[in-house]
Amino acid sequence: MGLQSRRAAMRPAPLGGEVLLAPHSTVDIRPQNASFVEAPGRILVVDDDESIREGLSRVLAGEGYEVETAGDAETALRCLGALTPEVIITDLNLPGKDGLALISEIRELGIETTLIVLTGYGSIDTAIEATRQGVYDYLEKPVDRSRLVTSVRKGLERATLRREVLHLRREMVRSGRLQELVGGSAPMLEVYRLIEQVAPTNASVLVVGESGTGKELAARTIHAMSPRASSRLVAINCAAIPETLLESEIFGHEKGAFTGATSSRAGCFELAHEGTLLLDEIGEMPIDLQSKLLRVLEDGIVRRVGGSTELEVDVRVLAATNVPVERLVESGKLREDLYYRLNVFTLALPPLRDRREDVPLLAQHFLTKFVEENGGIVLGFADEAMSLLMAHDWPGNGRELRNVVERAVILCPEGEIGPHHLPKSVRGPRRVAESLAATPGAVTIPVGSSIHDAERSLILETLEACGGNRTRTARILGITAKTLYSKLRRYEEEPDDEG
Ligand SMILES: Nc1ncnc2c1ncn2[C@@H]1O[C@H](COP(=O)(O)OP(=O)(O)OP(=O)(O)O)[C@@H](O)[C@H]1O
Ligand SMILES: [Mg+2]
Repeated sequence: MGLQSRRAAMRPAPLGGEVLLAPHSTVDIRPQNASFVEAPGRILVVDDDESIREGLSRVLAGEGYEVETAGDAETALRCLGALTPEVIITDLNLPGKDGLALISEIRELGIETTLIVLTGYGSIDTAIEATRQGVYDYLEKPVDRSRLVTSVRKGLERATLRREVLHLRREMVRSGRLQELVGGSAPMLEVYRLIEQVAPTNASVLVVGESGTGKELAARTIHAMSPRASSRLVAINCAAIPETLLESEIFGHEKGAFTGATSSRAGCFELAHEGTLLLDEIGEMPIDLQSKLLRVLEDGIVRRVGGSTELEVDVRVLAATNVPVERLVESGKLREDLYYRLNVFTLALPPLRDRREDVPLLAQHFLTKFVEENGGIVLGFADEAMSLLMAHDWPGNGRELRNVVERAVILCPEGEIGPHHLPKSVRGPRRVAESLAATPGAVTIPVGSSIHDAERSLILETLEACGGNRTRTARILGITAKTLYSKLRRYEEEPDDEG
C-alpha cells in the first residue's frame, strides 16, 4: 500500500460516520485554536482501513496539522526515513508486521516520536503490552473526534517538550556532563552513549567500577532517563544491612513472620513497583537470597517473608558492585545464573586515573557546588594545585576528589585554591600507614587523641583482626552491622591526613 499524503487543507468537510462515530460528527471542524495553525505538527496515521485513514487525516488536516498516512507497518517505516512526525497514530492489527512490532521497531531505531495507538474492541492485552513500550495514549475505535483532537494536541505538546529535553541533553553531553554525571573524556562520553541507549529499555544493567567512580550516580541517571522516571528508584545496599534483615528488606514480611516482626511491611520490590530497584553491592547478598531474587526476576512475583500471597511486581532491576564480577562468580559470592540474568547490559565506569582530563572539569564542578553550599568567594584553582590534582592517582576516584575539594573550600574560603590547601596524600607520595597497634591484639591510642580518632582506630583494628568480617566485628564491638558500615564508609571518605 502506498503512502498517501494530505497537506493541511482546511476543508470543512463532514466526517465519515463509519469512521468517527462521534456525537459531533457534523460539527464545523475548522481549527478551534489559531495557535495550532501557526505551529502545526506532523502526524503519521497508520491503519489498513482506508476509511479510517481518510477520516482521521481529514479531521487532523482540518486542525491545521500536516498529515501523512500509511496502510501498513513497512510503508510507515519506509516513510519515517524522510519524515519526522512528532506524533504517530497506529492501529495494532495491521497486515504483515503488526502494530506492536512497528512500535518496538520505532523504539529500536531510536526515533523520537509520541505514539498513540488505535485499539479495537477486545485488544486490551495488546494495549497493555503497548503501554510497556511507552505508548502515550489510546484511542478506541470508533474514534471520537474531540478525543482524537485533544489526544493529538497533548501528544504534540509532549513531543515538543521531549525534543527540548533531548536538545538540552545533547548540549550537556557536549559540555561534558549527563544529568549529575560529570566528565568530558572519551571513556565518559562512551558511558553516556551506553546510558542513553539502555535507559529507555527495561533491561537489567550491571554497573561495575571501582569505589567512588559514580556507580550509584550512573544508576540514578539510567532511572531518570527511563520511562519509569516518574516512579520511584529504590536503592538498597546489600552490604549495609545485616544478613538476617536483608530478606525482609527486599521482599517484605508479614506480621509474625519472625521475632520482632510486629507488623507487616512491604519490601523494596513492592516499593519499587513500576519503578527501578538498585541492588547495590550485589556481591554481599547471601547466596540463598540470590536464588530467591533470581526467581522473582524470572516470574515477576514476590512473596513476603511469612506470607503466602503472590504479588505481581513490575520492577526494573539495576545492580552495582565494586568487586570485579568475574571474581565474585569465581569465588562463589555471586550465583552464575543470577549474574547472567542481571548482566543483560554491563556499564563499566572507568577509574579517574584513566581519564585524568576529567579532573579539572570535576574539580570545578565540586568547587562550584561547595562554594554554593558554604558561601565564600573561591576563584578557582592555582595552576600548581591543578597540576597536583591531575598527577594524583585517585584511588577513591570521584568521591575522593569531591572530598579533597570540599576540604580545600573550607580551608580557603576566598581567593585561589593553592597546593597548601590540598592534603598531603595529593601533594606528595603516600605516607606509609603507621602501625597503631604496638602489641598484636592491642590497640594503642595516644593520649591527646580525639574520641573520633580513638573510635576509628579501635574499629579498623578490630576489623583487621576479624579478617574483614563485618558481622563479627560489629558483634565484638557491640554495635549493629549497619552502624559499622556507615562508620567505615565515613572513614573511607575522610582525607587520610590533615595536611
Ligand atoms: N562522574 C562523576 N560526576 C560527578 N560526581 C561524581 C562522579 N563520580 C563520582 N562522583 C562523586 O562521588 C560520589 C560517589 O559516587 P557514587 O556513590 O555514585 O560512587 P560509587 O561508585 O557508587 O561508590 P561505591 O563503590 O563506594 O559505592 C558522588 O556523590 C559524587 O559526588
Ligand atoms: Mg555505590
